[in-house]
Amino acid sequence: MLQTKTKKILFDEIAEQLDTHPDICIRSYYKALSSLDLNGDSRLINVISASFLKRPNYTSKLFVNLIYRATQYIMLYEYRHSSFHEFGEKEWIDLLKKLENDNDLLIKFEELITKETTQTTIFQRYLAPKVLISMFFNNYEISVLDLGCGLNIGLPGIEQNEEFNIVEDNTTDNLITKYMNDKVHIKKGVAVDIGDPKDKKDWAMACGFYPQEMYMFAQVAEFTKNLWGRTNVKFKKANVYNVSQYLEENEKFDVIIASTMFYQHENLDDVEILLQKLSQNHLTQNGIIIINDFMVVSESKFRWGSSWFDKKGEGYKYLTGVMVKGVAYEAFKWGNGRCNKVVDGKDIKTITKIAKDSKSNFK
Ligand SMILES: C[S@@+](CC[C@H](N)C(=O)[O-])C[C@H]1O[C@@H](n2cnc3c(N)ncnc32)[C@H](O)[C@@H]1O
Repeated sequence: MLQTKTKKILFDEIAEQLDTHPDICIRSYYKALSSLDLNGDSRLINVISASFLKRPNYTSKLFVNLIYRATQYIMLYEYRHSSFHEFGEKEWIDLLKKLENDNDLLIKFEELITKETTQTTIFQRYLAPKVLISMFFNNYEISVLDLGCGLNIGLPGIEQNEEFNIVEDNTTDNLITKYMNDKVHIKKGVAVDIGDPKDKKDWAMACGFYPQEMYMFAQVAEFTKNLWGRTNVKFKKANVYNVSQYLEENEKFDVIIASTMFYQHENLDDVEILLQKLSQNHLTQNGIIIINDFMVVSESKFRWGSSWFDKKGEGYKYLTGVMVKGVAYEAFKWGNGRCNKVVDGKDIKTITKIAKDSKSNFK
């Protein structure tokens, strides 16, 4: 009975993602998955729904996303197959049936969806934080804390002034284009994640690409290795809700970034309390918190729980927000979490003014 109810929740979410995911190959994957359990007897679907029950704190949206990432991990590291961007429903059904009939691989798959968390890390997402850092602090020496750093390439990439991809910049004052190549000066960087990027590299890389992006795999692997060798950003393995225990007492940062992390969290009251504590205990007087996420900004607060995509992946649902002195503002709205297309957030004029005033106070 429980399994039937669980399957219904999962299949409803699969249907939603089948309709809205931006990647056509992933939509075909969800189509294949949804056609697998016609008689209610698919071993794979039974493993999936039993695993979902073991993760009471995981939303169906995140879990369905995780199922795809785990399949991609199996494709890359077990089947050694990386060019599946042309897979349609039939190819995915064949693949899923093969997985279902392989005991060892099915156990591996189950382990991934029971224990792992989606760890997609995209350097391009750190473009907006870099632009805001430049708007608020010019190239003054600043300290930055990155929460939920994933592979830990975002803050090191900003620190090393790595180039970002050009974007379709539809902001009124072309703010992204204007600031994207400015040099910033990070004198201290600390990055935090619940998983150590060095232990989780394969998993994070398996999460990091849509099938149509897989051609960038080797390039990102090289970029990551190279940055890790050069960066001065210190990594700390910690749950962000206990982050104070891993910092010096009263250790303060000019900027705290949380990119694409809070959407994974169930208890949104805890998120709000954490943001308050960070503001009080770990931000300098002119410090700011920058958040990238699938969220909305309403009544001066960040709010999570909104959908990730509209039909076929469109809809500017991925935002960059900035919190100044406890007040949340909407800075930029992105075409999606890949951050290649941007429009003004509703508060961008206010932010530009605050940044200008704040810069003149910064010592
Ligand atoms: C989707 S990845 C985002 C990575 C990177 N910040 C980016 O935007 O590309 C989310 C990361 O948040 C981490 N995370 C989620 N909840 C966390 C928590 N409570 N404490 C520390 N890290 C957490 C996950 O392990 C994962 O690496």
